[in-house]
Amino acid sequence: MKVFPLGSRLNERGRLEVGGCDTVELAREFGTPAYVVAEDDLRARARAFVQAGRDAGHEDFHVVFASKAFPCTAVLALFAREGLWCDVASGGELHLALNAGFAPARIVMHGNAKSEAELTTALEERAGLIVVDNFDELDRLERLTAGGSQPVLIRVTPDVRGKTHEKISTGQADSKFGFSIADAPTAIARIEGIDGLALAGLHAHIGSQLLELEPFRREVSELAKLGDFPVWDLGGGLGVAYTEQQGSPPAIEEYVGTLVRAAAGHGMDAVGKRMLIEPGRALTANAGVTLYTVESVKRNVSIWVAVDGGMSDNLRPMLYGAPYEAHVADRFDGATPCVLAGKHCESGDVIVRDALLDDPRSGDVIVTPATGAYGYAMASNYNGLTRPPVVFCKDGDARIVVRRESFEDLTARDVL
Ligand code: LLP
Repeated sequence: MKVFPLGSRLNERGRLEVGGCDTVELAREFGTPAYVVAEDDLRARARAFVQAGRDAGHEDFHVVFASKAFPCTAVLALFAREGLWCDVASGGELHLALNAGFAPARIVMHGNAKSEAELTTALEERAGLIVVDNFDELDRLERLTAGGSQPVLIRVTPDVRGKTHEKISTGQADSKFGFSIADAPTAIARIEGIDGLALAGLHAHIGSQLLELEPFRREVSELAKLGDFPVWDLGGGLGVAYTEQQGSPPAIEEYVGTLVRAAAGHGMDAVGKRMLIEPGRALTANAGVTLYTVESVKRNVSIWVAVDGGMSDNLRPMLYGAPYEAHVADRFDGATPCVLAGKHCESGDVIVRDALLDDPRSGDVIVTPATGAYGYAMASNYNGLTRPPVVFCKDGDARIVVRRESFEDLTARDVL
C-alpha cells in the first residue's frame, strides 16, 4: 500500500478503503471519475515536513506549499491551518491562496512572466516575498513600487541538473526560469539600488520529481557562492513513488535533513537566517487516488479497458510518460495484462499502458493511486468532459470539497 494514502487498507470485503471510506461506495455515492483524498494524509505529510526542519535543528525553517500541485481551496485551507506558507505562480493562484486563508506575509509569489497586474496585486496585498525572475521584471517592479520596502528573492538557475523528465527540469543553465549564475550579481546590485525593494535572499528550484538528493547539495553550494543572505529558498522537487515497483523515494526527513545540513555547511543556518522549501508533489501526490468506472472491455491485440475519464483528469501519463498503476477497487492484485485507456478521442489517451487487473468488466470501479498532485491542477474539459469532484475522506466520513462540473458549467462563460 506504499503508494496509497496513509491508512489505506483492503477491508473485510476486499475493497480498498481510503480515509476509512469504502471506495466502491464512494464511487456509488459521488459518481466517477472522482478525486478521493485522505485528509489525514495531507496533514501528516505537512507535519512531517515541519518536524523534519525542527529535528534537523534549523531555527527558522518554513514549508511553503507549491500550490500548483493541488490548487484546491480545501487543500490550501488545510495547509494554511497547519501553519504552512504558500507558493503561488500567477495572479489566479495568489487569489486562491488569499481566499483559502493564507496570511499575505506567508505567500511567495513566483513566475517567469509576471504581468504588471500580477505584480501590482502582489505588492498591494503585501505578499511576503516576490521572487524576481528577470531584468524586465526588475524594471517593472522599480516602476511599480512607490516607496515601501517589498522583500524580494532573486531566482537563480544554478546550472544543476537532476535526473528527471526534461519537461520538469529547471536547474540547467539554459532554462526559461531565473537569472543565470553569471547575471545574478548584476541583478543583486540593481535591487540594492532600488528604494522600494529589499533583497532578502536567493531562490532556486532545480526540478521536480527528483529521486536523488545529490543535486540538492550541489544546488546549495552553487547558491552559496553568490554571497551571504538572510533568506534561502531552496525550491521544491522531492519525488514520490507512483507505483509499487518503483524504488522508494528519499524520506521527507532524509530530504529535509540533507538540505539543512548542506545549508549549514555554508553558514546558511546561522542565527537570523531563514530557510524555505517549496514542496508540492511530496505533500499531495500520495494523499489522493482517482476512481473511475469501466465502460467497456475490448480484446484485440491487447485487452483495452476503457474508463470514464482519462487525459482530462490526469494528463501526466500523456505529457511525461508518467507511470501509474491501477486496480479493480474490490479485486486487488490482478494478473491480467491490460491497457487502461481513457475515453478521449485520441490514441494517446492511455492512463496505464501495462496495468495488471483482475478480470476487469464493464461497471467495475478502477482506482489509480498517487494522483493527488498535478491531476486536478492540469485537468481540462477536453471532449466536453466535466471535471471531477474532489472528495475528502477522514475517519470513515466523506465530504465533497469541490463539486463535479455540470454541463451548465461548460457553457457558463459563453457570451451570445
Ligand atoms: N517551486 C517552484 C518554483 C516550482 O516551479 C515548482 C514546480 C515547485 C516549487 C514544486 O515542485 P514539486 O515539489 O511539486 O516537485 N506538472 C508537472 C510538475 C511541474 C512542476 C513545476 N514546478 C508534473 O505533473 O509532474
